[in-house]
Amino acid sequence: MTQEEIIKAINEKYENLDENPDTYLKGLLQAKPINYWDYIEVDTLLSLQKPRTNFKDEEIFIIYHQITELTLKLMVHELEQIIEEPNITEEFVQIKIHRLNRYTSMLINSFSVMSEGMDYDDYNAFRSTLTPASGFQSAQFRFIEIYCTRLKNLINQEGIERLSALEKPKIEDYFEHIYWKDAGHNRKTETKTLTLRQFEEKYLSKFIHLANEVKGKTLEDKLIQLHTEKPISGELKKLLREFDILYNVTFPLVHLSTAKHYLNSKGESKAATGGSEWQKYLHPKFQQRKFFPMLWTEEEKEHWAKKE
Ligand code: HEM
Repeated sequence: MTQEEIIKAINEKYENLDENPDTYLKGLLQAKPINYWDYIEVDTLLSLQKPRTNFKDEEIFIIYHQITELTLKLMVHELEQIIEEPNITEEFVQIKIHRLNRYTSMLINSFSVMSEGMDYDDYNAFRSTLTPASGFQSAQFRFIEIYCTRLKNLINQEGIERLSALEKPKIEDYFEHIYWKDAGHNRKTETKTLTLRQFEEKYLSKFIHLANEVKGKTLEDKLIQLHTEKPISGELKKLLREFDILYNVTFPLVHLSTAKHYLNSKGESKAATGGSEWQKYLHPKFQQRKFFPMLWTEEEKEHWAKKE
């Protein structure tokens, strides 16, 4: 584009908005040049780490959780675009799933920052100061589930049995029996841990709202729709199965082995900050969380994460 053409295009742009182009051109003349630190908000970003103890490794713990939250935000960003797209194609979904797999792999491949990158004794000392906070309270982790699949796929076998007593479960009923309640809801004594109570107080209504909003439009719903129009290709199927395994089996197992390292080695078995029966709760074979059950055989579903 020549300079003349650029000026002409700018004039047209603002005239189409019923604005005076000269005002905007004068503004451009005065504008300060952008720089890296303002654009990326580096100062703000680097001011967000506030350790609660004097242990140096607590900063690693905080930063790595923040990195994870940003990575989850990248995933939410892709999933929102899928939900909002009324006419998805194979090609569109493939690009998105490639991205989701890349982000999930980043989480898996970097988790050694947690499992190997902190001093064992220091971690066990500073973590008690963080009670009752827990990664369990990561809302983005739950938003991703709600975007990816129908709520019925987030209910484990025991939950399905409890729900079967209801003729037509509502969204609220699904959330009453969703797998993650097992981390803090004791159904015998009908008590809940503080970690779970606080989490529900802050987010449950938001989860229910989102689930209502994406009903019939989740990634799984879109795939079912795509598949009825034209069977999905082997290549897309492979990518989707990879995503299901990375997010719902590999990541949980890497995370669980880190929990075992800090909480269940050196002959000790310690309680988690979130108060769950974590050894059982965190294992994907108990959670039975799957985003795309239609892509798995009955046998594969039956043996979900049991070999690991
Ligand atoms: C030393 C590092 C870590 C240990 C020992 C650990 C331990 C645990 C434990 C025991 C739980 C069960 C809930 C509870 O009772 O607290 C849990 C849940 C959870 N943690 Fe971590 N965690 C670590 C790092 C992380 C990191 C870096 C993240 C990233 C955000 C994270 C995300 C989660 C999530 C999402 C859950 C809930 C999992 C689910 O419901 O399936 N954790 N963690």
